[in-house]
Amino acid sequence: MANVTFVNAGKTVRVGPLSNLRRVALGAGIPLYNGLAKAINCRGAGTCGTCRVKVEPADALTPPTPLEKLRGCTGPMRLACQAQLASDRHDLVVTKMEGFSGKGTRPQPGPGIQGS
Ligand code: FES
Repeated sequence: MANVTFVNAGKTVRVGPLSNLRRVALGAGIPLYNGLAKAINCRGAGTCGTCRVKVEPADALTPPTPLEKLRGCTGPMRLACQAQLASDRHDLVVTKMEGFSGKGTRPQPGPGIQGS
């Protein structure tokens, strides 16, 4: 099992390999979408880009899918609906950034972010 810490929510969830990040977050009641994206998203189809998150370490996930590459999600920036834990050997830190698609330079405010 690996620990996945969602920084904005200030919550850590223990999950097994090949767990999907979107399902883990939503299953734990952790918000994954900003603003209008809460209502307007593709529900995990990989087409809207609004579930974008920053994940460290990036190599603890399965390689980016073609849909992620199409959206420029490589390195630490990933689509949560497409990304799965590659194994349970690495703990992960997941940060949702500001903006409709999570492309901002600062973390989205939340209970786990100091000063929010
Ligand atoms: S939910 Fe739309 S791309 Fe992930």
